[in-house]
Order: sequence, then structure tokens, then C-alpha cells
Amino acid sequence: MPEKLAWKRKDLLGIEELSKEEIELILNTADSFKEVTTRRIKKVPALRGKTVVNLFYEPSTRTRTSFELAAKRLSADVINIAVEVSSVKKGETLIDTGRNIEALMADVIIVRHNCSGAPYILSKSVKASVVNAGDGWHEHPTQALLDIFTLKSKLGRIKGLKVSIIGDIAHSRVARSNIWGLTKLGAQVTVCAPPVLIPPGMESFGVKVTNDLDEAIREADAINVLRMQFERDNVSAFPSRMEYFKAYGVTEDRLKGAKKHILVMHPGPINRGVEISAEVADGPKSVILEQVTNGIAVRMAVLYLVTHAQGGAI
Ligand code: CP
Repeated sequence: MPEKLAWKRKDLLGIEELSKEEIELILNTADSFKEVTTRRIKKVPALRGKTVVNLFYEPSTRTRTSFELAAKRLSADVINIAVEVSSVKKGETLIDTGRNIEALMADVIIVRHNCSGAPYILSKSVKASVVNAGDGWHEHPTQALLDIFTLKSKLGRIKGLKVSIIGDIAHSRVARSNIWGLTKLGAQVTVCAPPVLIPPGMESFGVKVTNDLDEAIREADAINVLRMQFERDNVSAFPSRMEYFKAYGVTEDRLKGAKKHILVMHPGPINRGVEISAEVADGPKSVILEQVTNGIAVRMAVLYLVTHAQGGAI
């Protein structure tokens, strides 16, 4: 079971608002739960009698499934709301949907939404805990936490590590959450993308900015490769997927200049042959599927902490 608690938040909305100590508490709690996920009977009664609702307004494979598994491993009851066939289609607002879910006795609402800030609005309107499962271009806190957890598990520390985040920085909630988390824990972060995919003022986040993929790879202990988000307004950001791959795709050839121990990460879903080659994605440096597995322990930790908060924001 997790160590002495100091968690005071009802919700997990973003990494930006967390202290280094809060992030470390989540990581340490996840470490305890990781052991549970390897047992023959992968279940503890920590959330018995609690109800967790997945409310996803955008598609998801990894996040939704691992939140469901995490809740079930903690013995919670889990409801998945299919927004496409819900009353959202009749015009029901996010707040009304949230209040109705709460009226059905939900203790935790996990929300993914295409609007940045949607989980914050919901958290003000319900007493249930709200967990951000990705809001627009803003934050994806549990993805960053599982990325950091994976890095720490593989390399033994975060402080002093050099991590390059490569790809569509402009539209990436994963990039923003990782930058907040990694820099708070003392890592040196570089972001690398074509100029059009790096928002102005990026240096103010405390990161190094480069457009040179080889430089970003050469100095890194780990690279986190981001998907080109063609479903957002990226269609005109690069002439074609093939040209993007030629200039910014992470391939075996590009990794020749890397440190021997470099880790290749990707939050998924992968666009093979666009931001990463199949050989690299499936190769020995890749920890992409370990990231997915670690998502269960990290999300168990988050669900446990928000439902056992000691009251009052930190
Ligand atoms: N990384 C991630 O958020 O994946 P899903 O969209 O499948 O949840």
C-alpha cells in the first residue's frame, strides 16, 4: 500500500499546477501499485464501493482502457459513457452531463475533451473528483506521469536527464504536460520540430528549442516522439507526410548518432512512416509498449490519491 499520504487535491487537472513533491508522491504511489499489476490476482480493495466514470468526448484506446483497468484493479465499479450515443448528441452541456453523472453517485469522472479547459469547468461544477484525460492542446497529465514513470524505471532518475520532445509541439498536450513535469523534476528538456510546429515563446517554458533533429537526438538520454496530429489543423503544416518523415522522422539511420542507452518513447497512437519508422518503433531502444503498461499503475495511483485526498488544495 502507498506511503504516508500528503495529497490534498480532489482533482487531477494538470501538471502545471502540481509541485515537485506532488508529482513524486504520484510516482511513488504508482511504484507501489506496479507490484499489484504483476500479481496472479491483480486486485486490491482500495476503491471498493466507489464508482468511476469514463467520459470521453474524443477517441482513445490507451487512456480509456487503462483508466478502466486501473479502476477495476482497485475494485471500483466502472462505467464507460459512449458520448456518441449519449444525450450529448441532444445538446446536453458538459456541466449538465457531469451533474447527472454525479447524481448517479459517481465518485470520479475521467474526462477527455477537445476543448482546452473543459476538465477545469467540470471540476468547479461537481463534488466528484475530476481527472483530466486530455483537454484540447492543453494538458494530458496522466500521459506525462506515465512517461516520467517509465523514464525513471528505465534510467533510475529524472534529475539531470536530457529529454528531447520531437514532433508536433504546437498541438501537443502531451508535450506541455511532459515539459511541466520533467522540468519540475530537474530534467533538461529540448523541443525539436519544424519552426511552424513550435509555438512562439517556447523558451519561456524553460526548454531548449531546436529545428535540428540530429542535434536533438545526439544529446538525449531519451526522446519522446510525438504524432503529427493531422486531425487538427496540421494539414498545411508540412507539404506531405513523406516529406515530414524525410526531414523529421526518427529512423535507425538518424539514431546512429545517439547515446548507446537512448530510450525511444511515443505516447501513441503511432503514425509509422510519418514521425517514426516501424523499425525504431518496434526496435530494442523502444519502450513504447512499456509506457502503455505503466499507464495502469500510474492511473491506479491517481485514482487512489484523488479519492483519498485529505481536503483543501495545496
Ligand atoms: N496516448 C494517448 O492518449 O492515447 P489514446 O488517445 O489512445 O488514449
